[in-house]
Amino acid sequence: MPPPTPPPHTTVFLLLFFLFLSTTIQQSDLDSDCTNRWIHIRQLPSLFNLDILTNCSETHHPFATNFCPFLTNHGLGPKTHNQSHSWFRTDTNLLELFFHRRMLEYPCLTSDPNAADAIYLPYYASLDSLRYLYGPYYNSSSQHGLHLYNFLKEESPEIWGRRQGHDHFLVIAGTAWDFSQPLGNDPPLWGSSFLELPEFYNVTTLTLESRAYPWQEQSIPYVTSFHPPNLALFNSWIKRVTRSKRTTLMLFSGGSAISSTPNIRRSIRLECDNSSKTENTTQNSNPYSKQCEFIDCSNGICEHDPIKIMKPMLHSSFCLQPPGETPTRRSTFDSILAGCIPVFFEELSAKRQYGWHLAEDEYDEFSVMIPKEDVVFKGVSVMEVLNGIPMSEVRRKREKVIEMISRIIYRKHGSSLGLRTKKDAIDIAIEGTLQRIKARLEAEGLTDQ
Ligand SMILES: *[C@@H]1O[C@H](CO)[C@@H](O)[C@H](O)[C@H]1NC(C)=O
Ligand SMILES: *[C@@H]1O[C@H](CO)[C@@H](O)[C@H](O)[C@H]1NC(C)=O
Ligand SMILES: *[C@@H]1O[C@H](CO)[C@@H](O)[C@H](O)[C@H]1NC(C)=O
Ligand SMILES: *[C@@H]1O[C@H](CO)[C@@H](O)[C@H](O)[C@H]1NC(C)=O
Ligand SMILES: *[C@@H]1O[C@H](CO)[C@@H](O)[C@H](O)[C@H]1NC(C)=O
Ligand SMILES: *[C@@H]1O[C@H](CO)[C@@H](O)[C@H](O)[C@H]1NC(C)=O
Repeated sequence: MPPPTPPPHTTVFLLLFFLFLSTTIQQSDLDSDCTNRWIHIRQLPSLFNLDILTNCSETHHPFATNFCPFLTNHGLGPKTHNQSHSWFRTDTNLLELFFHRRMLEYPCLTSDPNAADAIYLPYYASLDSLRYLYGPYYNSSSQHGLHLYNFLKEESPEIWGRRQGHDHFLVIAGTAWDFSQPLGNDPPLWGSSFLELPEFYNVTTLTLESRAYPWQEQSIPYVTSFHPPNLALFNSWIKRVTRSKRTTLMLFSGGSAISSTPNIRRSIRLECDNSSKTENTTQNSNPYSKQCEFIDCSNGICEHDPIKIMKPMLHSSFCLQPPGETPTRRSTFDSILAGCIPVFFEELSAKRQYGWHLAEDEYDEFSVMIPKEDVVFKGVSVMEVLNGIPMSEVRRKREKVIEMISRIIYRKHGSSLGLRTKKDAIDIAIEGTLQRIKARLEAEGLTDQ
């Protein structure tokens, strides 16, 4: 079989990426103290990253076959329209690529692995997993990652050996569930076994969702579509969010199908559909012209079209975040970005996940928790609970949500120094990683090098 020819825009993109890799990045003089913050980027053969991108059109994925269009802008995707500076059609699964790009402008990089506090592995793990999940390696999905481990042990093995991998980290743009298939389950029930390999137990892994009892992984926010390049554009969005009129009480975005068995999404849909029928009977004192809005996001149509979801979110007070196939949702971060107060139905949806970015003790201040069992089995009405929250408290919660926006966005690469003074999702992820690795090394007695 002849080698695949990548589509032309991919070639252009890769060329730009290579040019970029070969230029030195101007270091900012922000945070010039790099003590305890040095990071070495491990040089990996292109088969671990760039080659995977050239295969973007043949991912064997039965649903969305082609992720090539979303590779532009280093994984942020194409702009939503020509005049847009901050909004992109971002596919959250390309975080591995964008994280890599942002690491290249990290101010405390060192080329000497011995001087580094942490070692970053620019391996595009979830993109590489596609050939195990859907492709020719289906029957060896418990091998996913072994080729990387073999490389690390064979090529300059002292870099791994210095701290037995405890100082290494990488990013997986997916949920840990997709990478925790028990070893030896070939063909797999679902997913690869990357996180189950003892070879990688020591490596800190950043995922979009972690298991209930995580070992090596830590959750970081899903990527939204907003990536401002400077402080002025960031501030003008904050202003818009702050001023936006909230005419809808609550918003739910999800698939169009309503399941026949009881579950939280079904209860919400029934309540929402019901509310539009009885809308005009609600008292005049209610400040909202609409009680519930449902946005149909079937087949991922909202993911690449942020306007579909951001507009209604800007006009809603509360955004419901029931668990889907897994407890977490990108929509949680879209809703924070829109200043829409997230309503959770279980703690695994966020509180037990994103401790680095959203402090656990702040959930009462910025969100609402309604246990899903109360809604599904005890007839608690979500609408009644939310209508019962005094307006002054709604305002306080919203202010808190808006305060958190800077922490969950992924600002654009090469952004202005002004914007870099605000810590974004990646800054916080790197900080957390360095602290976690430090604690790990201390616990293992591996610090005296
Ligand atoms: C890219 O696709 C070709 C053909 O399917 C395959 O042989 C190769 O291993 C793939 N490369 C990577 C890095 O996935
Ligand atoms: C946007 O850019 C594309 C490609 O550069 C061009 O074809 C199109 O006409 C532009 N649209 C507008 C509204 O400027
Ligand atoms: C995996 O194994 C099954 C049964 O052993 C076989 O039918 C199937 O073709 C294999 N799949 C691939 C992609 O090799
Ligand atoms: C992980 O760390 C433990 C303890 O520090 C060590 O014994 C083990 O060999 C390490 N694993 C790998 C794959 O290096
Ligand atoms: C639908 O609305 C009616 C009238 O307001 C109410 O009695 C009923 O309990 C509602 N059903 C659901 C599922 O919310
Ligand atoms: C509620 O009232 C509005 C206008 O006041 C009307 O357009 C709408 O059809 C009414 N809805 C129902 C379900 O009666």
